[in-house]
Amino acid sequence: MKTIVGNWKMKVGTRESVALARGTILALRGKKVLPDIVICPPYVALSEVRKVVVRSKVSLGAQNMFWEEQGSYTGEISSRMLLELGVSHVILGHSERREILGETDEMVNDKLRRAVHDGLTAILCVGENAQERKAGEARDRVAFQVQSALSGLKLKRTQKLFIAYEPIWAIGTGDSAFPVDAVEMHSFIRSLVKDLLPSANAGQVQILYGGSVEGENAYSFLREDEIDGVLVGGASVKLSQFKEIISSAIDIIEGQMGN
Ligand code: PGA
Repeated sequence: MKTIVGNWKMKVGTRESVALARGTILALRGKKVLPDIVICPPYVALSEVRKVVVRSKVSLGAQNMFWEEQGSYTGEISSRMLLELGVSHVILGHSERREILGETDEMVNDKLRRAVHDGLTAILCVGENAQERKAGEARDRVAFQVQSALSGLKLKRTQKLFIAYEPIWAIGTGDSAFPVDAVEMHSFIRSLVKDLLPSANAGQVQILYGGSVEGENAYSFLREDEIDGVLVGGASVKLSQFKEIISSAIDIIEGQMGN
């Protein structure tokens, strides 16, 4: 199975989010096989988008959450609040939050443990910046992020975890990684996960690629066995692009079924 996650960031308000959600669902009509699809609108649009996707195969995700259960944390949103809105997935540790808002590896670990404990499916983002890549430190950086984030994590037997490999230099730049490089990093991440979560069963931890995935290049990532899906930013708020990405996943799933 392949998973397509749309990260709508702070790019759309409620009205546009509802329209995008409706358009996405319409595009799925009549399709016999589908990838898993998760859309992550801004917080303020979650409840309206929920009404659109509630009886569909599309899951609802949030873009962030806080690690405490409840209390005096002005402006923060708890996992329970998300669950109450019908949210099943949550993106954590996105590089924009790490870079712009100073989110540390420790905070990401706290958030991840809380999300998993409370039954949300987490989408943990990791990835090196351009400098680190140039200096040959990409693996070290990613290893550190994965190790810190998964420290003390207790995944339930039936609970999935997504790790999105998102090289920072590829995000929003139109300059995606080469699939071959993504594959290499994915298999490295998979080997880390084996050590860090030895009791996780096959397929329980899925690895997504993110960074300038568009309609045109989605197929080249999705066709790789090592790439369980894609996390899409900019192209996920352009309906025609997002539909094309979903179509690529459908082609691949159908091809796999035919084998
Ligand atoms: P992009 O963003 O697809 O616009 O590069 C990906 C992300 O930030 O999740």
